[in-house]
Amino acid sequence: MNLTATEVATDSLVIPREPVEATGPSEKALALGNEAMSRRQYERAYDLFSAAARADAGERRFRREINRAVRALVPRWHFGMMNDAERNQAYARAIARSVGAGQSVLDIGTGAGLLALLSARSGADHVVTCEGVDVVAATAREIVERNGYAETITVVSRLSTELRVGVDLPRRADVLVTEIFDCALLGEFALPALQHARRELLTPDATILPRSARLFAQFVESTELHSLNHVGEVEGFDFSPFTSLSSLEYFSTALGNYRHRPLTDPVEIFRFDFGQDIAPAAHTVAAVPAESGTAHAVVMWFELDLADGITLSNSPSDRGSHWKQAIQTLPEPWRLNKHSPVEFRASHDGQRVLVSPTITTPG
Ligand SMILES: C[S@@+](CC[C@H](N)C(=O)[O-])C[C@H]1O[C@@H](n2cnc3c(N)ncnc32)[C@H](O)[C@@H]1O
Repeated sequence: MNLTATEVATDSLVIPREPVEATGPSEKALALGNEAMSRRQYERAYDLFSAAARADAGERRFRREINRAVRALVPRWHFGMMNDAERNQAYARAIARSVGAGQSVLDIGTGAGLLALLSARSGADHVVTCEGVDVVAATAREIVERNGYAETITVVSRLSTELRVGVDLPRRADVLVTEIFDCALLGEFALPALQHARRELLTPDATILPRSARLFAQFVESTELHSLNHVGEVEGFDFSPFTSLSSLEYFSTALGNYRHRPLTDPVEIFRFDFGQDIAPAAHTVAAVPAESGTAHAVVMWFELDLADGITLSNSPSDRGSHWKQAIQTLPEPWRLNKHSPVEFRASHDGQRVLVSPTITTPG
């Protein structure tokens, strides 16, 4: 690594030793903003670049710097998510059915404000909606105002676990609406947020939307999926040690983009009732292969139960879902024989789901 005289190497980052010489307030804020970016302090970088823009007559000068910080703070999936009509309509129908006059609503994870706006439109007296990323919360506030619901909706720029009744919410909420689910359901810390909300922020008989969810797994044969997370020989060289750096847990990708052959039918591995505390769990699941073959990966997806007759899923057959699927490649390919029952372990620690094949085949 070549460092200039003004740079210093830490474990993994190159950080300017001192702010680049700054001549005026905007240059100083710019230099500190760049330093914050290199330290991965993106909220601070955003504030500093914005301050640089305010201090500078030609605000447009810092648009790209501000956008660099925004890109680090706001994942691209927000756009695909907001344009996922099936998701939006399922929530819209469930909220229209569950929320009405006289009710106070808590929406955890505002994003651009969709669920809060749907709740207000459905007649809620008041909606408190929270968002952990300041710049996203500020934009949601603008969207709420633009759509004429500023009187009904309060956007709080904080994590739900930091909210207090009497401070952020006038009283405990009658309804909780939320969509803080990743492709395998738990990865965005949904369970701790729901548990905290039930204890601290909701009435004892509050409606929780979604009220439950199921998680499914299916083993597939697919050398293409295997090659996303394993390496062997490359141009005559042995690259296999690099496989020690492969992911042990699932990653998000669309199963339909890869050649694959399902070997088992989908099996339910977990069922979550969001009205109850949910402890980490592990259990053995039985499956009967519908085909013989070599399993390279397990594909997982969820089904949310939003209200009577209204479900939402990111199953592989749902090609339009912005969520894609959770794919966990197996450390070793697993031979499965048609109609010969097998068992595997499914576990979750409240945030991450893991599937582990067991070698045994029940007698
Ligand atoms: C998947 S998006 C959903 C946005 C919006 N509710 C919708 O359905 O269009 C989740 C958002 O919630 C935020 N978030 C996740 N967990 C949160 C929490 N516990 N408290 C506040 N915000 C949270 C994330 O930063 C993200 O912007």
